[in-house]
Amino acid sequence: MEDQGTAKHPDRTAPVIEVHNISKRYGSVQALRDVSLSIYPGEIVGLVGDNGAGKSTLVNIIAGALQATSGELRIDGRPVHLKSPTDARAAGIETVYQDLALAPDLSIWANIFLGRERTRSGPLGWLGWLDRKTMMRETIEDLERTRIRISSVAARVGRLSGGQRQAVAVGRAVAWGSRVVLMDEPTAALGVEQQARVGELIRNVASQDIPVLLISHNLPQVHAICDRIVVLFHGRVIAELAPSEAPVEEIVSWITGAALLAGRETK
Ligand SMILES: Nc1ncnc2c1ncn2[C@@H]1O[C@H](COP(=O)(O)OP(=O)(O)O)[C@@H](O)[C@H]1O
Ligand SMILES: [Mg+2]
Repeated sequence: MEDQGTAKHPDRTAPVIEVHNISKRYGSVQALRDVSLSIYPGEIVGLVGDNGAGKSTLVNIIAGALQATSGELRIDGRPVHLKSPTDARAAGIETVYQDLALAPDLSIWANIFLGRERTRSGPLGWLGWLDRKTMMRETIEDLERTRIRISSVAARVGRLSGGQRQAVAVGRAVAWGSRVVLMDEPTAALGVEQQARVGELIRNVASQDIPVLLISHNLPQVHAICDRIVVLFHGRVIAELAPSEAPVEEIVSWITGAALLAGRETK
């Protein structure tokens, strides 16, 4: 008999993504210094820090949009050289940015498949055609997996609320990101209730064993949904905190550097 336990519960002791001693320089600006960070299956990791701390730079390196000046990125223990976001996506790394990168004039299913349309060979021969039925069915399945409730996958994205758009962007990431989902300020433009929905959505993603790296300024939310919180300060990881042991005020004191000045230690 097949060992279903292994399939359903991947080795949680083996990181999916390892950032190893990564540094990044923009000319004279040292944006990241020797950053190391591991992300395990099914985890929600919060990445916090003040403006300019290096959060987006780190996410962009993992997403293949930027190259590190030095250091190594590993996926499933193997070093990878991601030269573009396309490389990262091919490796199962999906990113949801604040602007969501959705096409408002297209339907939900077309957005989910944007740039990766399924074709099948038919009377049109080498042209193939877009396998619309399959894409619509898969969209419904993908959104169900994240328990996103949307009345029709044929609806235009431009007609959706901010929260629903967010859900489509996350649904797209989950549909394609079999390994990890990165989110850079996914709730910045949303109202309170919609932010809560996205929190739920992130939990649903993680419950599929797909880890999430979440950048957010919404510290109460980060505190409530993350398993681990990594604090960047002037391009360095200065703390890794367990929400159960560190109240929001303590996270704030690390973000501002006050805890560092006070000589406190974590890890
Ligand atoms: N393209 C760039 N060119 C030069 N400096 C940059 C560039 N992008 C970011 N920086 C600098 O790198 C540092 C980290 O920025 P960033 O990663 O955007 O931080 P965060 O997302 O935490 O606000 C900042 O000092 C920022 O000014
Ligand atoms: Mg940023």
